[in-house]
Amino acid sequence: MNLINRLGGLAFGGDYNPEQWDKSVWEEDDELMRRAGVNLATVGVFSWALLEPEEGRFDFSWLDAHLDRLHANGIAVDLATPTASPPPWFTLAHPDALPVTPDGTRLVHGSRDTYCLTAPAYRGAARRIALALAERYGDHPAVAMWHVHNEYATLCWCEHTAAAFRVWLHARHGSLDALNEAWGTAFWSQHYTSWDQVLPPRATQWHRNPGQALDFSRFWSDEALAAYIDQRDAIRAHSDRPVTTNLMVPGYQNLDLWAFGREVDVVAIDHYPSAPGLDAAADTAFGGDRARSFGGGRPWLLMEQGTNTVYAGDRVLAKEPGEILRHSLGHIAHGADGTLFFQWRQSKAGAEQWHSAMVPHAGPDSRIFREVTALGEVLGRLGELAGSTVRAEAAVLHDSDSWWAMTVDGPPSSELDYHTALRRAHRALWDAGVTTDFARPDDDLSRYRLVLAPALFLLSDTSAENLRRYVAEGGTLLVQHFSGVVDARLHARLGGYPAAPLREALGIRVEEHRPLRRDELAVLSDGSHGTAWSESVRLEGAEAVATYTTGMLAGAVALTRHRFGAGNGWYLSTRLDDTNYAVLVDRLLAEAGAGPDLPGLPFGVEAVARQAPDGRRWHVVLNHTTDVVALPEPGHDLLTDATAHELPPGGCVVLRLP
Ligand code: GAL
Repeated sequence: MNLINRLGGLAFGGDYNPEQWDKSVWEEDDELMRRAGVNLATVGVFSWALLEPEEGRFDFSWLDAHLDRLHANGIAVDLATPTASPPPWFTLAHPDALPVTPDGTRLVHGSRDTYCLTAPAYRGAARRIALALAERYGDHPAVAMWHVHNEYATLCWCEHTAAAFRVWLHARHGSLDALNEAWGTAFWSQHYTSWDQVLPPRATQWHRNPGQALDFSRFWSDEALAAYIDQRDAIRAHSDRPVTTNLMVPGYQNLDLWAFGREVDVVAIDHYPSAPGLDAAADTAFGGDRARSFGGGRPWLLMEQGTNTVYAGDRVLAKEPGEILRHSLGHIAHGADGTLFFQWRQSKAGAEQWHSAMVPHAGPDSRIFREVTALGEVLGRLGELAGSTVRAEAAVLHDSDSWWAMTVDGPPSSELDYHTALRRAHRALWDAGVTTDFARPDDDLSRYRLVLAPALFLLSDTSAENLRRYVAEGGTLLVQHFSGVVDARLHARLGGYPAAPLREALGIRVEEHRPLRRDELAVLSDGSHGTAWSESVRLEGAEAVATYTTGMLAGAVALTRHRFGAGNGWYLSTRLDDTNYAVLVDRLLAEAGAGPDLPGLPFGVEAVARQAPDGRRWHVVLNHTTDVVALPEPGHDLLTDATAHELPPGGCVVLRLP
């Protein structure tokens, strides 16, 4: 059963952990949820200890009561499996299922997420409780959706992991000889002569073997996905409701989220901005565009956000008035079919007592709850958007192998960070008002006018050929420094970078990497400058667009363009300053013929089009500035059910297009 058909509009609600409260609070919850317009509550995420008070003995009575109560109150349930937090009895019975860190420390219970996914006792117990829940609630009228686990993020280096890793390696490489070759074990006397010598990349004296580290990341991601599929399939055997798991912000989970996108019925992400103001809005778009892309463009669900939570380094900042609505509509703009929060009611005790919630400690007579209620009203008016999608003409390449490959020991500069590079590329497009997809380097890219490859360190032969074809057939591609440098086994490309087919499309050959000193500037002939990195690039058909004017590379090419086939291959060999990177991206957009969904808006005003399969269209327009902004054309605003001509400071409209 489709979630949206079931809800009849956009989803709105949050994690509901009623086990922290008593009856009088539950009764108030019922009333407040109605008042706020909540229609979906995630229940049971961390309830293992209550559901299975001792091994194999289940107690569903309290959950029965809550599901019945929510159902009577008209609220659908996103029912979670509680497997992210095994209870203390589990630890004591199965100490071998506790995670071990790379330095050999075995963690203990007392927090959450303390388990090893490869431990048979854990996997068995997780499957058992998922199955028990599915058998009992598979067709419960309250249950609209299943929420497997919570943010698969724990890694482990224990003996179970070592055994599972060896099985995975055997399947991938076929033989120990092939593994030795792939990992380059001829160097540093690392040659393996039997499988049981092979370990997960635990703490070592110096650099860990890079191939081993990359394969471990791949292995762990596959293992986590298998753990998800175990539970999903147990649930599917007893329920026709959609199943998902919540994915998290970049880097938090060491997972290939593309693979998860293929296995979930609806992509769900949690999103907590990492900086305030306009950066939070850009971050929201980044998160939303990733979520939509992982699901191949399908509508997705914002499973968690904070009413008042902006993680900014060493402190948690409050959201400004109006940001609860604007961030939520930001997610809706980028294709979400609903927005939920962590959590409904702020905990009075326990590990997250200072984390924001829909009902804060202060209670319903509070700014937060008033903004939550206002959001519920707004979402209630946007039901017609449910099921519509977002189309992008520009894409940023996003590849888990490249990310993991850049995290192995011994990179030539500590200023190379995969997700930072991705964010910069996305941000330049977002600042230009352009809606952006993420795509994998081996995807069919033909629907994009412009593709940015900001950090494609690892590039397989197939992907290199795919990118060559994309340009030949008319695409505009910008490849940035330190890309196409290693193959799928992390072996350096010999004879010059990047990988040969891509080199052909770019018309260049990179001969040497020259990381810059910290704070060193590489000044280019067009007045722009690069930091962190430079390269000695040779022209092999491309034209020089800008050259280096300083340092060892003075006079050498820095930025190139190659007219190849029907398209253009650009290469940028340094990390350009933000302003000039934006100028370059604007130029590429103009040349490629890609632009904003709604042209004519000033900087800081975001507009994204959603489109229904039957052709109906809407513009979600968000004013992140403190100015009044006139709309390019007046339109019918669903939020006010009236014609809108302008946006107040911080205001939002959702325009139904004629
Ligand atoms: C999420 C998690 C929630 C809660 C939240 C706080 O990552 O799934 O359970 O801890 O963070 O921001």
